[in-house]
Formats: sequence, structure tokens, C-alpha cells
Amino acid sequence: MKNSINQEKCKKCKLCIEVCPVNIIGIDDKSGVHFIKERESICLKCGQCMAICSTEAIQVNGFSYNNDFFPLPENKVDYRNFIDFLANRRSVRNFKDKPVPDELIHQILEVVSFAPYGAEPEKVNITVVNNREKMELALPAIAEFLDNVVKWVENPIASFMIKRKKGAETFNTIKNHLYPISKLKNYKLEYGDRITRNAPAIIIFHAPKGAEEHTNNSLIYATYSMLAAHSLGLGATIIGIVPAAINKVKEVREVFQIPEENEAIISVIIGYPKYKYRKSIKRRGHNINWIK
Ligand SMILES: Cc1cc2nc3c(=O)[nH]c(=O)nc-3n(C[C@H](O)[C@H](O)[C@H](O)COP(=O)(O)O)c2cc1C
Repeated sequence: MKNSINQEKCKKCKLCIEVCPVNIIGIDDKSGVHFIKERESICLKCGQCMAICSTEAIQVNGFSYNNDFFPLPENKVDYRNFIDFLANRRSVRNFKDKPVPDELIHQILEVVSFAPYGAEPEKVNITVVNNREKMELALPAIAEFLDNVVKWVENPIASFMIKRKKGAETFNTIKNHLYPISKLKNYKLEYGDRITRNAPAIIIFHAPKGAEEHTNNSLIYATYSMLAAHSLGLGATIIGIVPAAINKVKEVREVFQIPEENEAIISVIIGYPKYKYRKSIKRRGHNINWIK
């Protein structure tokens, strides 16, 4: 089906023209409100034109009012309870020995369908491992990877290669963050699982290497998922170590069944929190520069 506007239903309010982010809808006497042929190919499929139309006159290819849209729910969240919700969350690294029902993970992932995205959101793949035994299979190889991080950083040639291949941001994260922690043997399995923290489940976000905006989209999806977990009474932590190991170690990639052509971006561990924090933390120190 093509993009179209039902002229009988259209009230010519022009709101669709106003909200379209890439200006592919126009109006003239002959065609009324219409999709501009030579611009249609840049449609972002954001659905905003259909969402704002009061008469359901618009049809965007791939969308239907019946399947993809529903009445706008009441917004019950104001600034105060939004802040309270955020302040109430902590990254949870201590979990009860209690499995998470699949149904709750479905609910967590439902939030991804409401998340903003940069180009090509569907290129982000999501792998759910709701199986502690499977996760444990990957731990020895991830721990070994973290041991190797120490060796690589201490080797000037390996360091140079990481910087060149992965860029300054990744290199500095490894050198200034991961290396000192690994050097102190923090991740050694003899101390327990400090990688996935005995969580019963992990969600991994990955995408074909080089796919448009996949890093940003994955981080937003992971953040939304972590917040959704919190809203369901679950605990979650965003974990960067697991995707780093997936991308470097074949065995880890195989355990999590991440396709060879994909790059893992970020992961989120999920479980029932073992402890309740008594205080919230308000972090300061971000450098905010107002230009007026
Ligand atoms: C991109 C990113 C990667 C992270 N990777 C890890 C990780 O590998 N292991 C871990 O324990 N926590 C990880 N975290 C969680 C942070 O360490 C955590 O947010 C921080 O300790 C602040 O705690 P809070 O979330 O309770 O405020 C990561 C967070 C982000 C945003």
C-alpha cells in the first residue's frame, strides 16, 4: 500500500504538514493535502502525521490505524513523580535467587516500541537470555577477556592497535576505567560473578556493524528497558562489559548467539533486587553551560 490521504476525510487542518519532520506533505488546490511525490522516499516512518490527524485520513505505507495506533493514554506523570521515580532507582547488582517470568521481560521490552530513535531503528536486534545456566557458560571466557585487557593495556603495541581500531573513546574507557578494575582482579570468578552479578536474565542489544545510529538507538532502548524493569519492581543494571567481550571473544558471541555480522552494543541485567536502598543519590559535577 502507498502513502495516501483520503480527501473525503481530510479537513485540511494542515497539522500533518506542520508536524512532518521531513516536510513530505503539501497542500494545493488541485490535490488538496497530499504526499509530495518527489519527497516521499525520505519518510521517516515516525507516524506523527497519522497520530495527529483527527479524522484518520492518512495512510502511511506499513502502518494502519487499527494495528499501530491507539487512543492517547492520559499522562499521569508530572515532573515531581517523574523525578521521584528516577531517584528511586539504583543500578541493582545483588539479586534474589528467583527467576524472572518471561511475561515481565515482554513488558520491559514493550517500552522499546515507545522509544525515540535515530535512523533505521529496526536494525537494532534484541537477544533475551532468561536462563542463568546459559549466562554462566559465558563467564569464564568473559573473565579471561578482562584478564587480557590488563595485558593489552600494559603492552604498548596492543594499546596502540586498540586506539587505532576502536578510537580514543573506547581506548580511554578501557585504559582509565576497565584496566584499573581488572588489574585489581575484581572480575576473577573466584570472588563470584561480578560480571553479570548472578542476575537470572540479561538483555543484549546488537546490530549489524555500521548500521545507522545503532549505538545511540541501543543505548536509548537499554535505558528505557532499565527504567521499565524498575517500574515493574525488578532491578536492572546496564552492563558494558558483556557486549565488549561478545565483540572480542568468539566463544562469548556463540553462547549468546549473536550473529557474526553484528556488533553488540550494550546489555542490561535483570532480576529481583535482594536489598532495598535507603537513600537516593543526587549526583553533581556535570558541567552545564548556559548560553543566553
Ligand atoms: C554505558 C554504561 C555501561 C555500564 N557498564 C556497567 C558494567 O559493565 N558493570 C556494572 O556493574 N555497571 C555498569 N554500568 C552501571 C553504572 O556503573 C551505574 O549506572 C553507576 O554505578 C551509577 O549507579 P546508579 O545507576 O545506581 O545511579 C554501566 C552504565 C552505563 C550507562
